[in-house]
Amino acid sequence: MKILIIGGGYIGYRCHDAWPDSVLSTEHINSKEDVFKLIDEYKPDAVLNAAGVRGKPNVDWCETHQLETIVGNTKLPITIAEACQERGVYLLHMGSGCIFYGDSPHADKKWREGDMGNPIDVTYSRTKWAADLVLSTLPNIGIARIRMPIDWVPSPQNMIDKLATYPKVIDVENSVTIIDDMLEVFRQLMDKKAEGIFHVTNPGTLKHKEIVALYEEMVDPTHINEWISNDDLVKQGLATKGRSNNFLASENLAKFGIEMREVHTAMRDTMVKYAEAKKNGVSSGETLVY
Ligand SMILES: NC(=O)c1ccc[n+]([C@@H]2O[C@H](COP(=O)([O-])OP(=O)(O)OC[C@H]3O[C@@H](n4cnc5c(N)ncnc54)[C@H](OP(=O)(O)O)[C@@H]3O)[C@@H](O)[C@H]2O)c1
Repeated sequence: MKILIIGGGYIGYRCHDAWPDSVLSTEHINSKEDVFKLIDEYKPDAVLNAAGVRGKPNVDWCETHQLETIVGNTKLPITIAEACQERGVYLLHMGSGCIFYGDSPHADKKWREGDMGNPIDVTYSRTKWAADLVLSTLPNIGIARIRMPIDWVPSPQNMIDKLATYPKVIDVENSVTIIDDMLEVFRQLMDKKAEGIFHVTNPGTLKHKEIVALYEEMVDPTHINEWISNDDLVKQGLATKGRSNNFLASENLAKFGIEMREVHTAMRDTMVKYAEAKKNGVSSGETLVY
């Protein structure tokens, strides 16, 4: 399968490095014609849209750069979708679970793929939800929502590295995405040309405290941090807007016979590999360096 990955950021490079049959475009896309050029040159079986704007150093940047965020997270996916539809190429668009805040209205508190997002006043979440809302009814398009990527490759974007380096960490519990599993699921979704929305999160939920405990057990027993509440994040001036914390139910992957490992099993396996990678000096900036 020939995959064209659009977007030379963390996930784009991570997928490209894992898939020898993929091509990665880091070119800036402004129009449908820019996408036509890529499709006509590479003639892919599927396109992965891993381009987007999530703010640097963090998502608060989007609050002061609203238009750039709207263009990157809402307009760009529509432009890519338009070109893919016209060329008859399957598109897997990367969404985010951060369109949901708090508990769902369901008894088990988990958000389903078909639930309406509730991003309130957070620009990043609103722009991601807007793209999902308009793209999700089109044929030949899949939307893969991920959350808090956890990887064995050390990187500033990896949740393990983030939790290990923040002096103050919020004590919360979430659905998360183990990158090894995500890489496999994305390929299967593209192979099956699966349409609709997919929660690409591992079954079960993880507390930040559990991740940090594993880190201390396997990587650095001397690690220390302060635990704070989610409300303290904004109260203490560490963030402009409250962060999305939620539980996602992944119901649509099973319809395509796709499974992900239970989150605690996958997390432990990932931390074992992460500890090994740290020992061997493996790391990733934007590009993986083995
Ligand atoms: N990482 C996460 O925690 C996370 C969680 C949930 C969902 N996601 C979603 O996953 C996707 C990939 O995220 P990521 O972590 O890889 O983000 P990233 O590291 O910021 O990469 C995104 C890439 O998209 C590029 N881009 C922006 N506008 C573009 C355009 N018009 N044409 C071509 N490229 C463009 C950016 O280039 P420039 O920097 O040069 O603008 C950047 O290289 C995004 O849709 C994000 O919302 C990520």
